[in-house]
Amino acid sequence: MRKNKQVLVGITGGIAAYKSPDLVRRLMDRGADVRVVMTESACEFITPLTLQAVSGHPVHQHLLDAEAESGMGHIELARWAEMIVIAPSTANFIAKMATGKADDLLTTLILASKAEIVVAPAMNRQMWQNPTTQENLETLIERGVRIIGPAEGGQACGEIGLGRMTEPDEIAQELLGDGIPKSLTGVRVVLTAGPTWEAIDPVRGITNRSSGKMGFALAEAASDFGAEIILISGPVSLETPQGVERINVVSSQDMFTAVHEHITNADIFIGVAAVSDYRPVMISEQKIKKVEDSMELKLVRNPDILRSVAELEDPPFTVGFAAETECIDENARIKLTNKRIDMIVANNVAGEEGAFDNDCNQITVHTENQSIPIERKSKYQLSVELLEIIVSLWEHNNP
Ligand code: PMT
Repeated sequence: MRKNKQVLVGITGGIAAYKSPDLVRRLMDRGADVRVVMTESACEFITPLTLQAVSGHPVHQHLLDAEAESGMGHIELARWAEMIVIAPSTANFIAKMATGKADDLLTTLILASKAEIVVAPAMNRQMWQNPTTQENLETLIERGVRIIGPAEGGQACGEIGLGRMTEPDEIAQELLGDGIPKSLTGVRVVLTAGPTWEAIDPVRGITNRSSGKMGFALAEAASDFGAEIILISGPVSLETPQGVERINVVSSQDMFTAVHEHITNADIFIGVAAVSDYRPVMISEQKIKKVEDSMELKLVRNPDILRSVAELEDPPFTVGFAAETECIDENARIKLTNKRIDMIVANNVAGEEGAFDNDCNQITVHTENQSIPIERKSKYQLSVELLEIIVSLWEHNNP
């Protein structure tokens, strides 16, 4: 993977600017060093402070800003960028680019830079179809500008059609996915992610902590490696990564059933889900009234999905995750042996820096003969390194 590509994200004034922080984060997840330039109208939709917090760098806004120029001046910024991505790019901004205007910082940088220029348009469908916009785009394409999107669907103005900004993970994948070897092309991966929910009654239940971020990052990275992915997810509020088939489940038993419906042809199974080990023996059809001062809940053990996959007659390469709060690696290695799996990924879930919900994580990958620590980094980057290890072992087992 190409690390630290220097990407300048330009944000112009459209409603799709709300997607730009996500794009910045996804580019950074893929190892890019990102700086942000916002036009004046972009600041009407989203604050520079948000972009500063996400990118970790001051946001550049004005051409004639003495303070900014004393940091990284606009010409220096133009030289620094290896790629300039304008997302969202309005019809007006595309017109300015086509006519070579340089009346603000972003247009000036585009003229002053030798970087690859990428435009992700976002506008009302009529504006997109307008011959002037299309001619302007033709001009840009002739000059070597790359256009990503727009996508089709419901628009902020209430109309339906072409004009939505392409989703951030699709843009990031298109821009920075190239460097990843497609070493899982044709390989079928089944992944579980997120928590499970074991109902007690219609309003209450037992669950495990998990935002789904680790499992979804792994699915996204596996997709970048060219794999065919089925992501079986418990209840989470995350978007499905590009190229990934998602199956939503609620309970541990639903997850068990979904896994076994799709595991027959799988080459690799990765269990990232935080599966509830127990479920209530009885689910009350009605909301249980709080009449008594105390109550007892009888629980029964859930089947172990990971172990059941490893015990199949012709099992896929099977990887588990161990969520631990103490003796992390020792406990993980015990699970590796007890569940009879090929690999376990140990992570610490204790404390604020723990694996739950954070964008970054630190893991150690254990196999029968090896323990490989991977330092703290974004869950996407961790996933890329984890998949590299999985690929090498899987290829070794399947020459
Ligand atoms: O989702 P995030 O907020 O990003 O957090 C990520 C994570 C901490 C949830 C993730 O990195 C992680 O550690 N996932 C495993 C959580 C877990 O249930 O760990 P465990 O040690 O209890 O289970 C070990 C393995 O057995 C896991 O692969 C689990 O999916 C599997 N298991 C457990 C119980 C069960 N009944 N069936 C299973 O398959």
